[in-house]
Amino acid sequence: MSASVGGGGRTTPEQLTAAAVASFDGCADERLRTLLQGLTRHLHALAVEVGLTQDEWSQAIRILTETGHITDERRQEFILWSDTLGISMLVDALAHPAPPGATESTVLGPFYVPGAPLREYGADLAAEPAGDPAWIHGRVLDLAGRPIADAEIDVWQNGDDRLYAVQRPEAAEDHLRGRFRTRADGSYAFLAVRPVPYTIPDDGPVGRMLVAAGRHPWRPAHIHMIVRAPGYRTVATHIFDADSAYLGSDAVFAVKPSLLREFVRRSADDPERPTGVEGEWYSVESDFVLVDDVEPA
Ligand code: BEZ
Ligand code: FE
Repeated sequence: MSASVGGGGRTTPEQLTAAAVASFDGCADERLRTLLQGLTRHLHALAVEVGLTQDEWSQAIRILTETGHITDERRQEFILWSDTLGISMLVDALAHPAPPGATESTVLGPFYVPGAPLREYGADLAAEPAGDPAWIHGRVLDLAGRPIADAEIDVWQNGDDRLYAVQRPEAAEDHLRGRFRTRADGSYAFLAVRPVPYTIPDDGPVGRMLVAAGRHPWRPAHIHMIVRAPGYRTVATHIFDADSAYLGSDAVFAVKPSLLREFVRRSADDPERPTGVEGEWYSVESDFVLVDDVEPA
């Protein structure tokens, strides 16, 4: 194929694609060349496959422009496109193939803020009332079942108003988030609240796409965590409430069956009731299994 459209006769779509792909042949960065040529080839193939009209392409460009306009340090509409098209989870799956028994990763989401306070074993995440208390506990283990001491669990979640603290300027900065270290036996525990389903930000172009497509913006109830330990691969994951609505239709495709956990209802007079808890509460047991960080030989 020629590197540019030229010569006599009619210009075909195949020639246009070949010319655009070949325009990157001289790109010195091999990986960049692969990415740009792949992108060009697949975009051209999409246009051909669906018979893309000029109006549709203009509309796509308008939507991308709106996406840029609504995006700032607090709102990342491009990531929402990636999430709602399933790309975030696909790229995560390619990057983090989990061997059997290891905790599976899932989407990070836009509400993670690094630098949560380090808290004591069993501490309360909530700076104000935020829902039904939930005692989350378990161990961090390696693939052989050995406890990992001093692993860090970085947690963030929403309250019963559906919001993360970062979405509420009036909330204490450290409300419903914290970092915990495992004890010598790999155990950790903290007092959370039972999370509730919530909608991803849906007042922008992504929300309009969901409406037009007959999809909903809901995510099932979950608690986020990043688990880190020296010598092991970091995993960003969730605990999903196994009784939540929307487990079968998460707007961002982040549910994995291995991440579902039972929120067990406990009575007010249960002798294991955590300090400071009054009334009914829930308990959730969840171990996290980390993979060694050794480079393959
Ligand atoms: C979240 O779980 O925080 C989230 C993930 C993807 C898009 C929006 C929110
Ligand atoms: Fe979330």
